[in-house]
Amino acid sequence: MTPRRVVAFGPGRANLIGEHTDYNEGLSLPFAIRQGVRVTAEATGGDELLVTAVDHGERARFRLSGGGERLGGWRDFVRGAIGELSAAGVELRGAEVTIEGTVPEGVGLSSSAALEVALCLALRAMAGAREPGDPAKLARLCSRIENEWVGTHSGLLDQLASLLGIEGHALRIDFRTLETRPVPLRLDGWRMVTVDSGEHRSLASSGYNERRAETERARRMLGLDSLREALPADAERLPEPLDRRVRHVLEENARVDAAVAALETDDLTAVGELLDASHASLRDLYETSTPAVERTVERLRAAGAAGARMMGGGFGGQVIALLPPGAPTAHGATEVAPADGAQLLEQR
Ligand code: GLA
Repeated sequence: MTPRRVVAFGPGRANLIGEHTDYNEGLSLPFAIRQGVRVTAEATGGDELLVTAVDHGERARFRLSGGGERLGGWRDFVRGAIGELSAAGVELRGAEVTIEGTVPEGVGLSSSAALEVALCLALRAMAGAREPGDPAKLARLCSRIENEWVGTHSGLLDQLASLLGIEGHALRIDFRTLETRPVPLRLDGWRMVTVDSGEHRSLASSGYNERRAETERARRMLGLDSLREALPADAERLPEPLDRRVRHVLEENARVDAAVAALETDDLTAVGELLDASHASLRDLYETSTPAVERTVERLRAAGAAGARMMGGGFGGQVIALLPPGAPTAHGATEVAPADGAQLLEQR
């Protein structure tokens, strides 16, 4: 029996540490957040989706047979979901679809992955697909929507975090094997907050793709299958700025495991220091910071944060900070806490 109505939710994500490592087969420590995107689909028969993007006040029709040109914005995510699900053999059904979000777009909380994940869960469920399916496979499919249809050459960090989040835990993800390990976040009065730097960017048009291409070039020059195999001495053999890019990736991977170890011994002061070191590396070695991001980080530190760093693809977006007990919540800060991953909320 195929359902008449489904509601799916895909959360956004925060990333405690491990930035620009996912597409280099490295390590990250993200968590799903409570905010996300909800997709409601009601069967209509026929061979198209009539989609309303509530937050944009827009509506558009999409043929299930796919095709058509790049349209920009949320529409490409819908085209991509139709294209990729069809290519994966899912027999999509005509439906009226509503998209509503509680995660701001373009600020580094991964509204994109939240949308891809919620759309795919809803459309698959409408087609009668059995849940939960293989999350790594679904994460790859969602990532193809972003890479092939939207034009951002992002990795799997956001999709895996959105799909696999566990309340109260961060996820140590090894992007070489896609093995995930829940790491309890026992905050004991400490708080994690994110602050918008006020500078919003579309990942596709930012330097993100350029950074990805640089690390790919470094990998080829070193003759390695992935930068996961690189050694510090390899970085020194590379020309500027590739040497610094590779150093960031190697040191950031090490910081992820240092953060896991610190969390296991409840040493949140050490986690704060690692956030600061990650930020310095993203600023000086990976060069993805901006003046607005720097001001936001400084402001959080001045307000008593034990550590603060830019989060996500960079070139603007959000800063994440760790506040010790008693520290005031900085102006404009949103508390983020690890929540469960994507789910079907309704199916009937
Ligand atoms: C964005 C991408 C992710 C990841 C981060 C940087 O969020 O979507 O795949 O590369 O940037 O860590």
